[in-house]
Amino acid sequence: MNTSDDARRRLERLTELLAAWQPLWQPLPFQHPRLPWQAEWPAMVEALLALSDAEVSRLQDAPFTDPPLAAWLPVAELEGLASLPQLPGEGETLAQGWATHVGGRKWRQIEAFLPRVRLAAGDRPLEWCAGKGHLARTLARRHGVEVSALEWDAALCDGGAALAEAQDVPLTLVQQDVMAADVACWLTPTTHVSALHACGDLHRRLLEQAVAAGSALTLAPCCYQRTADAGYRPLSRLGADGMARHHLSLSREDLAMAVQETVTAPRHVQRHRQRANAWRLGFDRLQRAVRGQDDYLPVPSLAYGRMPGSFVDFCHWAAEQKGIALPDDSDWAGLEASGWRRQAEVARLELVRHLFRRPLEVWLALDRLVFLEEAGYDAQIGTFCDRELTPRNLLIRARRPATA
Ligand SMILES: C[S@@+](CC[C@H](N)C(=O)[O-])C[C@H]1O[C@@H](n2cnc3c(N)ncnc32)[C@H](O)[C@@H]1O
Repeated sequence: MNTSDDARRRLERLTELLAAWQPLWQPLPFQHPRLPWQAEWPAMVEALLALSDAEVSRLQDAPFTDPPLAAWLPVAELEGLASLPQLPGEGETLAQGWATHVGGRKWRQIEAFLPRVRLAAGDRPLEWCAGKGHLARTLARRHGVEVSALEWDAALCDGGAALAEAQDVPLTLVQQDVMAADVACWLTPTTHVSALHACGDLHRRLLEQAVAAGSALTLAPCCYQRTADAGYRPLSRLGADGMARHHLSLSREDLAMAVQETVTAPRHVQRHRQRANAWRLGFDRLQRAVRGQDDYLPVPSLAYGRMPGSFVDFCHWAAEQKGIALPDDSDWAGLEASGWRRQAEVARLELVRHLFRRPLEVWLALDRLVFLEEAGYDAQIGTFCDRELTPRNLLIRARRPATA
């Protein structure tokens, strides 16, 4: 079986599974004191709620490893469909001196990404949404070629140009909005576009423009939910047909699930998140009672360190944001305790969503790959690094074969 058949088979089967199980993975336990599916799956709910804290954090980190959910859900099949091979890298390791002025994690991502960019003779490299062009600068050094990079932020362009000049690298940073019509002039059949972590509409634009021009590309997509579209518009015909046949529709909120994996954060950050969630859930109970409306009310998020010092202060802050007057005689201790109970429950019920997270991300990437294949490209997909370096570790590379 060739790669294309395998990709199509995966895309089709994942469409079926995501559609069939959407009623379970779509609702957010955080927003539903009782999930719409809970009554239908009592044994599964019971098994989840019985998990210890240690089991919960193990399964959050590795949802496919020895999961209790395998008794009810197609865990092994989802895992198989979502597991993609690591694409082999080529060439020598990069000189460490080139890492100067690049953040440590970003540099290691570049180290993993670049050996998987297959430049062919005559390719004219271009970076898409380049920031300061760290990737483009390293590409220019590695291959000894001139590189162009598109970025709309003038300060980043200036900063990147200064770095390239100081290091004597032939890199041109161009201030360009990639969503503007005139971006087309940058793409030709000999252009090879690289994009590391280009968000939703930005990489969608790249795919459409590259196909229109016949350019080669190497892309690590991310943030699929950053799109102007309210509902997901599949790129490939196969994806569109499957979605229509299986009645799969994906909102921005659904797409956000695809990128919600956070590789285990330090202990104190985890603890901070748990407390923030418990307080929000405690406030949620209070606001439902005060407003007399049994529905979720989103409260803005707060940067780390900006959280009020106590649950009571948090509730007053949240109530102010939403224009709600709180009664003075609220049972603060009882509400806070119920928030913590709900937080533990939500973490357990969320494990259902965790199982579908990577399959959804892989489905979105396969939709992009098959779109390229449908446009006549030879395309490959795989990972370019371990998920600890970045959970957005999928890479698509594609080239339209030269016609004889
Ligand atoms: C997530 S960052 C990725 C930057 C770089 N590729 C990296 O991996 O560090 C996205 C970049 O896209 C730029 N950007 C956002 N919208 C853009 C647009 N419409 N046209 C060009 N660049 C844009 C941002 O300024 C930012 O530098």
